[in-house]
Amino acid sequence: MTTPPAAAEPTPIVVLVSGSGTNLQALIDAAADPDYGVQIRAVGADRDGIEGLARAERAHIDTFVVKTADHPDRAQWDAALAARISAYDPTFVVCAGFMKIVGPATLAGPPMINTHPALLPSFPGAHGVRDALAHGVRITGATCHYVDDGVDTGAIIDQRAVRIEDDDTEESLHERIKVEERQMLVDVVGRLARTGLPEAPNRKVTTS
Ligand code: GAR
Repeated sequence: MTTPPAAAEPTPIVVLVSGSGTNLQALIDAAADPDYGVQIRAVGADRDGIEGLARAERAHIDTFVVKTADHPDRAQWDAALAARISAYDPTFVVCAGFMKIVGPATLAGPPMINTHPALLPSFPGAHGVRDALAHGVRITGATCHYVDDGVDTGAIIDQRAVRIEDDDTEESLHERIKVEERQMLVDVVGRLARTGLPEAPNRKVTTS
């Protein structure tokens, strides 16, 4: 009888959240399949008491919280976040609804990707859904991109489009975006985990 080849080790990642964590849940569910090739080593947050952390705990995944209020300044918060991430030695980090801009210490660590609820480079920042609705665009969506030192300016990895309906509210539109966004994130994270990241993933995208 021949021994089957050893399965490749899953790629370790850390996921950062600030809220309900439905994107995190999609990754947890996908990672339950060994063929997906991802091990979520830890889930980090910038605040306590969020459903995202509860989802991780229910899945028996390590959690950590690094709050800005617990640090004298932003640079020390950033250094503490970088240290907590690197303790898990992830191949890359996924911001899945993490509502903080990270600084140089975290950016010097493992490559980081983010999911954003708009079609970048349109509507970056904390209110991508609201801003798209207010502008009156008819199509918006979700973008997965590398994190660099700008606000949602890193190289785009993938996007999904969502049509805006006449009666949409910010909430109804965000819910429809999140359906597409979760699938996009699961696809991107699995693909990066199984095929590897490009050598300089944090490059800045030039638009000129
Ligand atoms: C997602 O739509 C994500 O794109 C957004 O927060 C939501 C988190 O949902 N992130 C940003 O707006 C970052 N600028 P979830 O907690 O249910 O995964």
